[in-house]
Amino acid sequence: MTAFGIREFEGKRALVTGGSRGIGAAVVRGLLDAGAQVLTTARTATSAPEGASLVTADVRGRAGVEEIVEAAHDVLGGVDVLVENVGGAQPHEQATAIPDEEWQEALDLNFLASVRLDSLLAPGMRERRSGAIVHVSSAAIYSPPPQFLHYAAAKMALETYSRGLAAELAPHGVRVNTVTPGRVATPGGEQTRRQWAQLEPGQDAAPVPLGREGAPEDIANAVLFLASGRAQWVTGSKLVVDGGEFHRG
Ligand SMILES: NC(=O)c1ccc[n+]([C@@H]2O[C@H](COP(=O)([O-])OP(=O)(O)OC[C@H]3O[C@@H](n4cnc5c(N)ncnc54)[C@H](OP(=O)(O)O)[C@@H]3O)[C@@H](O)[C@H]2O)c1
Repeated sequence: MTAFGIREFEGKRALVTGGSRGIGAAVVRGLLDAGAQVLTTARTATSAPEGASLVTADVRGRAGVEEIVEAAHDVLGGVDVLVENVGGAQPHEQATAIPDEEWQEALDLNFLASVRLDSLLAPGMRERRSGAIVHVSSAAIYSPPPQFLHYAAAKMALETYSRGLAAELAPHGVRVNTVTPGRVATPGGEQTRRQWAQLEPGQDAAPVPLGREGAPEDIANAVLFLASGRAQWVTGSKLVVDGGEFHRG
């Protein structure tokens, strides 16, 4: 038995981007516990949760994405579960002060990395008529902070893309869903909120209705659900996991 229940990923080959720490590492641990074989990625980290293989590559360009796909073929032989978790951005004082290069970087990291990775891995899933893709977005899309407009806009593009891809792949037995986290206690999340607080003191004062920040495992549980057979009739959906912070009508 595992935290997630039975070993329901036994025999599954999973690729998780950005799994050296934070939400990605929690997803990796959850998948390993549930019996999957896992390859994860990072740009600089040299270690991943015990039991997972690691490929070091930058997802912000086509070359890095191709390296990851090559490693997935070498290490796993194919991918049944693809979790695209990498993301982030540096805040700026004003939206209009975000330089072009950082808009491009935000799009590459938070949106185009998934487009490129899916374009290389979804065809294999389609051929096998089976596969689950989960994109990790951000609740920043609900009330886009000007300081992070490049990030929020890229995540919104990711969500729109995710729904369209789900429609294309559904007839081929491949599911595509999104998880949209609120504030989560991770190294990347904490660092970003510190930088943001310097630019806009008090921005983090609003209480989370459920009384605390999320833990990486709160998000991993949602990712694992959507990637698992329990969600076999779920595609083109998104699961917002934010402690009730964003009220959506
Ligand atoms: N934490 C939050 O509050 C929060 C809220 C909403 C949404 N999210 C989203 O959830 C996801 C995970 O966030 P997190 O807070 O867990 O992030 P994190 O703590 O910053 O971890 C990011 C992971 O991605 C890797 N990575 C970063 N840049 C990369 C690059 N260019 N190429 C390849 N790998 C790269 C990092 O490894 P290296 O540093 O070694 O490259 C690390 O493994 C992101 O998409 C984020 O936008 C987070």
